[in-house]
Amino acid sequence: MRSVLVAGASGYLGQRLVQSLSENNFRVTALVRIKNKIKHLDKYVAKYIEAEVTKPETLKDTINEIDVVISTVGITKQRDGLTYMDVDYRANLNLLNEAQKCGVKKFIYVSVFNGHKLKDLKIIQAKLKFAEALRSSGMPYLIINPNGFFSDVSEIFRMAEKNTVYLFGDGNLKANPIDGKDLADNIVQNIDSDKKEIEIGGPEILTQNQIAEIAFDVLGKKKKIRYIPIWMSRFLLKIIRFFTTVKIYGPIEFFMTVLTMDMIADSYGKTTLKEYFKTLKK
Ligand SMILES: NC(=O)c1ccc[n+]([C@@H]2O[C@H](COP(=O)([O-])OP(=O)(O)OC[C@H]3O[C@@H](n4cnc5c(N)ncnc54)[C@H](OP(=O)(O)O)[C@@H]3O)[C@@H](O)[C@H]2O)c1
Repeated sequence: MRSVLVAGASGYLGQRLVQSLSENNFRVTALVRIKNKIKHLDKYVAKYIEAEVTKPETLKDTINEIDVVISTVGITKQRDGLTYMDVDYRANLNLLNEAQKCGVKKFIYVSVFNGHKLKDLKIIQAKLKFAEALRSSGMPYLIINPNGFFSDVSEIFRMAEKNTVYLFGDGNLKANPIDGKDLADNIVQNIDSDKKEIEIGGPEILTQNQIAEIAFDVLGKKKKIRYIPIWMSRFLLKIIRFFTTVKIYGPIEFFMTVLTMDMIADSYGKTTLKEYFKTLKK
């Protein structure tokens, strides 16, 4: 049985990777900061490693007898006082260095779709820098570039719960977000693939208007959408950037930027956004 270490196992995607790997007969080691956070996944986990990926000394000699490392480590909503360079770049580099020392055979890194079009964003700069370090490391690798996860699109559902959804432009920009378990299954299927990079999104290409309509439909509420001109979103971003630190504006600028462009990646999976929104309904 081959061993896979999931770094970021406590996150949205990490948890689904742990489950999918175990279902596909891999021995799963979960690398987390706090083990209790994923206690509910005990039946899928063969071994826990509690370590701080931002502190390389805590990783020393921990990645032994591991065939493949999959890292989903990155800042999404965490407020630890660290920058994207500290986590998305350096923490992943710490993991890669330790994996190389310990003789790991492959490193799989979860980055983001359309990174080359989003190079101005701090989060993307850190992710691209790590991807480059991985490519030149000599370690066999696979970089996954996924479209938005359903967990992120839930922001639109949360607005619908409060009766009004705010969208940029005319709401006709399109994307194919993906369910976390579908994405995890795809990554597991590609563990032995010769591919170096994969771009992946979900099965439905939806306009932002359609996403909002699905949310109102699931909630049984009357549709109410307000449109914010794209020029105003750029203006708002400038103000947020000026008055807040990267910890505050980073996630906001990422979300606002991807909402102002079409985001369509290769389609995969079966789970629909409607099915996911139904699980969010209280
Ligand atoms: N969400 C999306 O729509 C989307 C789309 C494309 C790509 N991605 C990328 O895919 C990856 C996984 O996303 P996700 O939605 O699963 O994110 P998530 O739920 O926030 O999980 C991120 C993981 O990184 C860990 N982490 C963050 N900061 C850390 C720190 N300072 N020290 C140690 N560990 C830290 C978290 O640990 P804790 O649980 O302990 O905080 C968690 O396990 C991220 O790199 C994200 O940028 C996300």
